[in-house]
Amino acid sequence: MVNIAVLGYGTVGSGVVEVINTNHASINKKAGTEINIKYVLDLRDFPGDPVQKVLVHDFDTIINDPEVDVVVEVMGGIEPAYTFTKRALEAGKSVCTSNKALVAEHGTELVQMAQDREINYLFEASCGGGIPIIRPLNSSLTADEIDEITGILNGTTNYILSKMATDGSDFAEVLKDAQDKGYAERNPEADVEGYDACRKIAILSSLAYGRHVNYEDIYTEGITKIDATDIKYAKHLDNSIKLLATSKKVGDGFYAMVSPVMINQNSPLYSVNNVFNAIFVHGNVLGDAMFYGSGAGKLPTASAVVADVVDCAKHLHRNIFMNWSSKTLNLMSVDSVENRFFVRIKGSLTRDMEQVEQVLGHVETVSLPDAPEEFAVITDKMTEADFKAKAEKLGTVISRIRAWV
Ligand code: HSE
Repeated sequence: MVNIAVLGYGTVGSGVVEVINTNHASINKKAGTEINIKYVLDLRDFPGDPVQKVLVHDFDTIINDPEVDVVVEVMGGIEPAYTFTKRALEAGKSVCTSNKALVAEHGTELVQMAQDREINYLFEASCGGGIPIIRPLNSSLTADEIDEITGILNGTTNYILSKMATDGSDFAEVLKDAQDKGYAERNPEADVEGYDACRKIAILSSLAYGRHVNYEDIYTEGITKIDATDIKYAKHLDNSIKLLATSKKVGDGFYAMVSPVMINQNSPLYSVNNVFNAIFVHGNVLGDAMFYGSGAGKLPTASAVVADVVDCAKHLHRNIFMNWSSKTLNLMSVDSVENRFFVRIKGSLTRDMEQVEQVLGHVETVSLPDAPEEFAVITDKMTEADFKAKAEKLGTVISRIRAWV
């Protein structure tokens, strides 16, 4: 028997208990041993919930119990999750988590601590909810040099952008709906400003490229400035707007970026809608691969956490090596990254095009019948710095969204 302790009985924690209870027999069979929930830690009480039988309020009960083999940290946030995780690893207990903030901030150290002690720190649920992506990067794709990861890594923003496109609903209304459904973070800023996707691409990139990618080095824009007119332009162009988190090798360097991108139907990410996530990976021998599925929510996330528990049970005193070194990967400056840009411009297409082309070079044009005061263009590829200078020179740019290359 493998005894586990679940830290936090919130959305994911209660999901972990539910998954283990629902699929108890098959999970035990696959683990080759019985997975027993010995404790659930929470400050609150849950009268009438069977969890009361295993509920504890003091972390020391768990840490001092030598029978606990695996700690499931699903509290979220940095503290006390960080302290509890370190104490658990120091006590020789493996840890499984969905806590992307903690993995992005302290993953290098926690992975190393687990390696030093022949135990495990696993975090499949930290990126892409229920989609297997950490394990494939860490085992199935080890023959490859990965040179690109581009993903829709945040369910809340994908849900919001999809709903805005299909229902014409406004941002605030859709955000409230996403929170009610348990997709959004308590503080929705992390989702809508792109911080959540930023942490996830930092984790995936650290694993894929084998060096620590500091999430604070990643250029990040959210979706709060996307408005109904942007969506109309996108529809007019048969495009969709997605919040993409990407990291890519260019020459000998790497860049990473999170931003809304206008993508067309040729992109494999075009049809990824609602709360679904997808991660596109390119390897030098594999070519393209795409991982798609339920990217957020209680049970999909809990499914990934419990799969990690099973892996811990199968490797109780053996570390599953992860290629995540403490050396930092220095990212290229975003100024030198090349993109195409969808640009909304004040004025009229017929009157102002000559000047626009003088400044921006060759462009494709688009205008909307119900937006007579403006028009839009899509540029050829140019560096971010180049675009910024040209947009300033033009002086009539309303907004810009990157366009899929
Ligand atoms: N708030 C996150 C999302 C939850 O919407 O993707 C899953 O990490």
